[in-house]
Amino acid sequence: MDTRDQFVDRELAETDQNGAWLPRLERWAGPIYLAIADAIAADLRSGRLRPGERLPTQRDLAKRLGINFTTVTRAYDEARRRGLLSARAGSGTFVRAEAAEARPPHEPAISADLTMSQPPDSELLTNALRRTLTNLLSGDALRPLMHYQRQGGSDEDRAAGVQWLGRRIPGLDVERVTVTAGAQHGISVLFASIVGPGGLVFTEPLSARSLRPLANLLRIRLRGIAMDDRGLLPDAFAEACRAEPQRPTALYCMPTLHNPTTVTMPLDRRHAIAEIARRHGVVLIEDDAYGLLAAAPPPPFAAIAPDITFHLATLSKTLTPGLRVAYVAAPDARRAAPVAAATSVTAIMPPPLSAAIAARWVLDGTADHLLRTIRQETAARHAIAAAALAGADMLSTPESYYVWLRLPPRWPKAELIAHAMRKGISIESSDGFAIDGQGPEAVRLSLGGPGNRSRLRSALLTLASLIEQEPAVSGAWSL
Ligand SMILES: Cc1ncc(COP(=O)(O)O)c(C=O)c1O
Repeated sequence: MDTRDQFVDRELAETDQNGAWLPRLERWAGPIYLAIADAIAADLRSGRLRPGERLPTQRDLAKRLGINFTTVTRAYDEARRRGLLSARAGSGTFVRAEAAEARPPHEPAISADLTMSQPPDSELLTNALRRTLTNLLSGDALRPLMHYQRQGGSDEDRAAGVQWLGRRIPGLDVERVTVTAGAQHGISVLFASIVGPGGLVFTEPLSARSLRPLANLLRIRLRGIAMDDRGLLPDAFAEACRAEPQRPTALYCMPTLHNPTTVTMPLDRRHAIAEIARRHGVVLIEDDAYGLLAAAPPPPFAAIAPDITFHLATLSKTLTPGLRVAYVAAPDARRAAPVAAATSVTAIMPPPLSAAIAARWVLDGTADHLLRTIRQETAARHAIAAAALAGADMLSTPESYYVWLRLPPRWPKAELIAHAMRKGISIESSDGFAIDGQGPEAVRLSLGGPGNRSRLRSALLTLASLIEQEPAVSGAWSL
């Protein structure tokens, strides 16, 4: 049996002096015979091997690689099993003419997760974490962070909240701010303290995936209000307020860079929605998870109608989800108190170490720096998506790392998702976002998931060529 160590020690040229193909095995892990089969597949994809090309004989390759004949036999058998090679009696082993299309389901051509709902990762984040944690360790600040904190967040955490939210909400003060363990926790405490079991909440017909399960858990009824490519429709909201036998307590919505569609509601609509909400006694719960990704978004409801708006901004979508920190602004100190109390009942407090890191970043400008980097990377990734998916029916903007892709009739979403998965790409069905569980024929692509731009580009190009084909043809990975 040939071993990798024995093999790696040898310096291999890519081709021998005669120009005959030799596999580059140093890039592949695992048994040599699989590495050779993998190298054949990779060289086919890169064009280093061409369909119809003749491969070295098994004996010749074994000799030139200095490995057992049987290892090469196994490798060629494996490549043949994958549909990459064919043997012609008496004349040798050839790359199959159709082999460039062949992909075994267990070995996707690329692997990219386009479901991850998070900003693109960056080195800066790691460096900032390392620096801040080192500072915390070297000073006296760490010990108090291992104690219980005051309800609603420490003074420093809430001051950071005022600074972070203050760019969007004029005249904010610490008494109105509560720190929660992320937006999901923030929404939970708002739903529990403002709405309660049996209550009714209006929302966009598509919303964050975690909203529906949360409402179910809290026994709160959600009703989707129609929206278009500029957000919620004021007329539909007004009509629903009139027609519903049960008075809605709140409208939960994402007016800026809505998840999953990326649309931003223009200012006139915000005024119209706020006016209807006030007329019908409906509280606004404004989820501004993505607001700071936009360079110049319209003012939030918290600025237009501060007396009826609870506003949330998580750091998960603008910095990183790992911190588990969000800031919630209530209309006034009196209405902030039950929110802080509910935070304490449900989680005691947000994780103090995370909240302290977040506060330092907000107060010393690191958060702004990280946000700028995320915005730049988001714009670059959006440009890649716009080029790769040119001509597709999609909603997106350079300020959002989501693409809402509306599918042509020949591609039911479930089929596209299954086909993409076979190619190693995971994408999100609209159903998970649909308040009634039944989304349109669309999928969400999250551009922040793949670790780098070239992986994203490959995934999107693969997806684009998939969508151009008919489902039956593109699904035929085996020959
Ligand atoms: C609009 C919106 N709100 C809240 C959340 C949950 O965020 P967090 O990680 O802060 O709990 C998400 C996550 O996808 C989201 O998109």
